[in-house]
Amino acid sequence: MAYLNLVATSAFGTETIVASELKKLGVSETRIENGRIYFKGDYPLIVKANLWLRCAERVMIIAGEFRAEDFGELFEGTKSINWEDIIPENGIMHVTGKSVKSKLHSVPDCQAIVKKAVVEAMKRKFRREKFPEDGPLYKIEISMLKDIATLSIDTSGAGLHKRGYRLSQGEAPIKETLASSILHLSRWTADRPFVDPMCGSGTFTIEAACMARNIAPGLKRGFSSEGWPQIPQKTWETNREEARSLIINPPLDISGFDIDKKVFKAAEMNAAEAGVSDCITFQKKPVSELSSKKKYGCIVCNPPYGERMDGGGRIFDLYKEMGEIFSMLDTWSFFILTAFENFEKAYGKKSDRNRKLYNGKLKTYLYEYFGPRPERVRKNDITS
Ligand SMILES: C[S@@+](CC[C@H](N)C(=O)[O-])C[C@H]1O[C@@H](n2cnc3c(N)ncnc32)[C@H](O)[C@@H]1O
Repeated sequence: MAYLNLVATSAFGTETIVASELKKLGVSETRIENGRIYFKGDYPLIVKANLWLRCAERVMIIAGEFRAEDFGELFEGTKSINWEDIIPENGIMHVTGKSVKSKLHSVPDCQAIVKKAVVEAMKRKFRREKFPEDGPLYKIEISMLKDIATLSIDTSGAGLHKRGYRLSQGEAPIKETLASSILHLSRWTADRPFVDPMCGSGTFTIEAACMARNIAPGLKRGFSSEGWPQIPQKTWETNREEARSLIINPPLDISGFDIDKKVFKAAEMNAAEAGVSDCITFQKKPVSELSSKKKYGCIVCNPPYGERMDGGGRIFDLYKEMGEIFSMLDTWSFFILTAFENFEKAYGKKSDRNRKLYNGKLKTYLYEYFGPRPERVRKNDITS
């Protein structure tokens, strides 16, 4: 079978992480653009990518790409694509769209033209005038960017951040995919203590536990390509069975704290649904009371970003307090995601590195403070 042109989408700033996840799935070449990681693959790879990518937002098939400055060009370009190679006779053809900096700026009109052209192409192959559209769903996206039309078919359905474990959430939960990306960047390993001192609904702790236990992020959910005739149900079953057999159970030391006891119900429910409640301890505790005798731990958190917090406390003071408390954990590493501009000043220490990451549409920075490497690793370094 010829390879399909595929793309995984991700939050801006996390593309290289998704590319490295794809490499682990056996993809040899990727091309990165803003929030998009292009690669080639077959239908079984679509199954693996949906099941295993922790940091990508969705996986799509690129059906075609061409310049379109008017509706005639959009219609002809779309019609020239062999849609019948992907969409079966009874497939539901649902078109969504977006347009940025393009002459064709009316999205509803682009969607209507694309639908008409796809149906025309299907008529060519199936020699019929009407299609029942009572089969599996093929969600086609027309994306216009600087007069280039990209037509893609979504294989994921709901965004991949929807793992299927979030039953409840706190006030500003971080997306599971972004949380996982930050965990990758933190280089935390399962043999080190992990703490989110402002855990809210527990996303960082749950993602850390799932990662450490090698629980495939898509194991608890379905995908829109699951009903497609190109992917036998058996392929999904075999991949899920394999994923279940790969779950491990290393000893873990993962804790989530928060000042607000109301959030723990959500955190505990979510951890239980994800199958990791036995590896995480949740406890009500303000950051001011955080202390530990353990060494080489890792703290990852997204504290409140707002200028003023509940109870009238100032965000600056909270960050200052974090800086003072964290500085006592002298062998630990810290990764703090915030949109607060004066973070380093308030925290009292310049980060070893900071990176721009988008939390939804909000520009945030991840401030990275690397602690010393654990002794075990350093001894190995000396003898090798
Ligand atoms: C942006 S939310 C974290 C969201 C979380 N990452 C999630 O995915 O649900 C910030 C959290 O910090 C907590 N918080 C605020 N001040 C705190 C303090 N002094 N000590 C501990 N937690 C605090 C809030 O109760 C809130 O749950």
